[in-house]
Amino acid sequence: MTGEKTPTPTVIAIDGPAASGKSTAGYMLARELGFLYLDTGSMYRAATLAALRAGIDPGDEAAVSALSRDLELQLKPASGAADGAADGRQYTVLLDGDDVTWELRSPQVDAHVSVVSSYPGVREEMVRRQREIARMGSVVMVGRDIGTVVIPDAPLKLYITASAQVRARRRWLDRKAQGHDADYAEILADINRRDEFDSQRKHSPLRPAEDAVIIDNTDLDPAAVLVEIRALLGAGRSQEIKEV
Ligand code: CDP
Repeated sequence: MTGEKTPTPTVIAIDGPAASGKSTAGYMLARELGFLYLDTGSMYRAATLAALRAGIDPGDEAAVSALSRDLELQLKPASGAADGAADGRQYTVLLDGDDVTWELRSPQVDAHVSVVSSYPGVREEMVRRQREIARMGSVVMVGRDIGTVVIPDAPLKLYITASAQVRARRRWLDRKAQGHDADYAEILADINRRDEFDSQRKHSPLRPAEDAVIIDNTDLDPAAVLVEIRALLGAGRSQEIKEV
């Protein structure tokens, strides 16, 4: 796709482990470029929540896969206080018309999302929906397999990571800021468990694409990460992104 004269689907792919800062970086970048921001983790979280709400055992692969195909899911940019943007959200997720944006981040969803997202049937459906969105172009897409599976020809692929301790501390601060009781040790254990599961799974495991630029932000704040990404865009690595 690179180098063609026809319009290039301009997708910036960002992958990385749990709570690595990829969502913050992706969101800031999308705003700066005027691109749509799509956090694909929220789609797997919504499938998990839908199963829990329907009383389906998350371990029942056939039932969860069937449910994911019928998922009535809407992802909308949070554009102002009227739609709740004032509460710090980056986007709004509607499941069957119900605003579940914050419920998607609950420890209960955290506990089951990795198993749900390891099912090929669930992945196939979510990837189909993600590619449909990518086709419209001008998207920053964040997840685990965007550069490797969903959009392997994305003109810029980033893999954002940080030490597990720093990631757990950031998630702990997020949870406290949202007014929840949060236990650092539990959060660290959950992050390690999910990373292990996501990296070891057979289908679309978490790993950097061969041509991804790896950014370790253990010692970088979000503004500094953005400076690095801007430098990559400016270095002509992804001319087609700038030509949109
Ligand atoms: O925000 P956090 O990094 O904790 O997680 P997330 O990005 O919301 O993703 C939640 C889970 O969904 C991950 O642990 C993966 O199991 C799964 N996921 C996936 O399999 N593929 C994606 N493209 C995005 C998320």
